[in-house]
Amino acid sequence: MKVLSILTAAALLALPLSAEPKGSDTKGKFYFKKQCKTCHEKGAAALTPLSRTQAQWRKFFDAGKHKGEAMAPKLATPEQLLDIKTFLINHASDSPQPETCGG
Ligand code: HEC
Repeated sequence: MKVLSILTAAALLALPLSAEPKGSDTKGKFYFKKQCKTCHEKGAAALTPLSRTQAQWRKFFDAGKHKGEAMAPKLATPEQLLDIKTFLINHASDSPQPETCGG
């Protein structure tokens, strides 16, 4: 019985991971600091991965809009945005590794 519940837990944990975006987490952190933190550093506009849940970040990037305008190429290249998306989703508030120090 115990083995079964461990297997079930493992399967449940593995599920969301398989759906993660395939960009680079490390590069995403770098680009997030470089491309986003310039405006989202302090006050009401401050953003860290923790500012949103995984679903909320996914929705934001899937929409591809920022302040009603296309994100690429204005904010970053599509490749950089994929890395930023990966970083933010991997460390979102409800992720297995939440991270406050996105920059
Ligand atoms: C030139 C300054 C600037 C840069 C660079 C910038 N933002 Fe923003 N961002 C803003 C402002 C201003 C708002 C608030 C606008 C509003 O609410 O209409 C905003 C709003 C947002 C929001 C909340 C609105 C929503 O649709 O949920 C998110 C999330 C966001 N930005 C993410 C990012 C990310 C990720 C990057 C880097 C790829 C980035 N921003 C780069 C200025 C910037």
